Amino acid sequence: MSGFPWESGARSYSKAVPHVFKSAESFFMYDEDGTPYLDFLCGAGTLLLGHNHPAIQAAIAGVANPLMNHLDLRTSSESDFVQTLLPRLPFKDKSDIRVHFCGPTGGDSIEAALKLAAIKTGRKGIFAFHGGYHGMSQGALSVTSNNSLRAAGLNVTRDVTFVPYPYPYRFPEGFQTEESATDFCLAQLRLMLEDDHSGTGVPGAMLIEPIQGEGGTVIAPKRFIQELRKICDEFGIVLIFDEIQAGLGRCGHWFCADFYDVQPDIIAISKGIGGGFPMALIAFTSAMNCWTPGTHIGTFRGQQYAMTAGQALLETIAKDKLVENAAVQGEYLSEQLRGLCQNYSDILGEVRGKGLYIGVEVSKHLPDPGAAAMDMKRGMLEHQIIIERGGRQGSVLRVLPPLTITREICDRFLNSFSDVLTSYSSQQGVKKYVSG
Ligand SMILES: Cc1ncc(COP(=O)(O)O)c(C=O)c1O
Repeated sequence: MSGFPWESGARSYSKAVPHVFKSAESFFMYDEDGTPYLDFLCGAGTLLLGHNHPAIQAAIAGVANPLMNHLDLRTSSESDFVQTLLPRLPFKDKSDIRVHFCGPTGGDSIEAALKLAAIKTGRKGIFAFHGGYHGMSQGALSVTSNNSLRAAGLNVTRDVTFVPYPYPYRFPEGFQTEESATDFCLAQLRLMLEDDHSGTGVPGAMLIEPIQGEGGTVIAPKRFIQELRKICDEFGIVLIFDEIQAGLGRCGHWFCADFYDVQPDIIAISKGIGGGFPMALIAFTSAMNCWTPGTHIGTFRGQQYAMTAGQALLETIAKDKLVENAAVQGEYLSEQLRGLCQNYSDILGEVRGKGLYIGVEVSKHLPDPGAAAMDMKRGMLEHQIIIERGGRQGSVLRVLPPLTITREICDRFLNSFSDVLTSYSSQQGVKKYVSG
């Protein structure tokens, strides 16, 4: 059959990568002709162990007669999974953690977190951040800052106030260092909270990706997140970390919260947590546990395959020291990419990376950074490597390999990227010459 005539117009990844894939293993996906593609997108960061990791396959194969659906009835797989998860969660008192399974996607955990914060505080207001991405359902979209996504489908109004997130590379002159950007954002935030003419009241929730993903892999400075914690304590605001994409080792720590040494009130986790199967959850301390039975339900919550695969995922990350691997290989990739950024400073602006959460931002001085990033992404596809774009105008190339990545795969990626940059800059030279 040729073509996919049934496709919804909203489909997007398949537009940029029009191949039809048939199978996958480890770092690679294979199209119908058997051509391998190195997958540095990994389901937008979901496949932390790459495709079809033997540990996940073995765990799934070992589930005899699974409960295909059990609503929120207790299962032994849930108990095993949660016992494995608890010690890794970024809460000091591991015996005081509560876990709430949500509908299957990340956005569902954001919905639950926002609802819980409102119940806890009695305040519906939410502070969210410029550049934040939290999902597509109406509540999650209402806290997602991308104007074009909002314009495309936000039908509800929520009490959401967006506040600036430190992003020195794209901040106005005078605020382009980590320190000055942090000072600016903190001052702005305090003003919003303290000025009785700010147009907004004290919110119930402060929702943040401590390291932003879709917003362009932007890494908040430590001081910013630590001050945020203090501000939330001072004003009685529930601090929610969205670690749906950054957590579970990707950032070179089990969670960003560990890197920042800050404990959130609620953490939202999804993507990789089901070992490739859909699962989303929020975790919080008992003090936050003000749900009453039935106040947040759903048909698909913590399906047994996802629990089992999730347990295998957590055990494999720990056993194979993949958090450490993410930190080491991520540092290598970021360092090499910074070298390329220096060599191609006319087309690349900045490399930001924490673990295997890496973004290469095309120079903001190019006339159309997003188009340039798109050209580079296409160039990588010609080298049979799949990467994604994100950030303002889609100007950030996002590098999201699995935590299992080896030095050899890093080098393969880097060599191809170097070739793509060489050919892109020579084409630009030709274009300049022809037009000039
Ligand atoms: C940080 C973050 N939060 C929330 C979401 C939404 O997750 P989902 O697409 O599974 O609903 C995403 C998805 O990319 C994300 O990266």
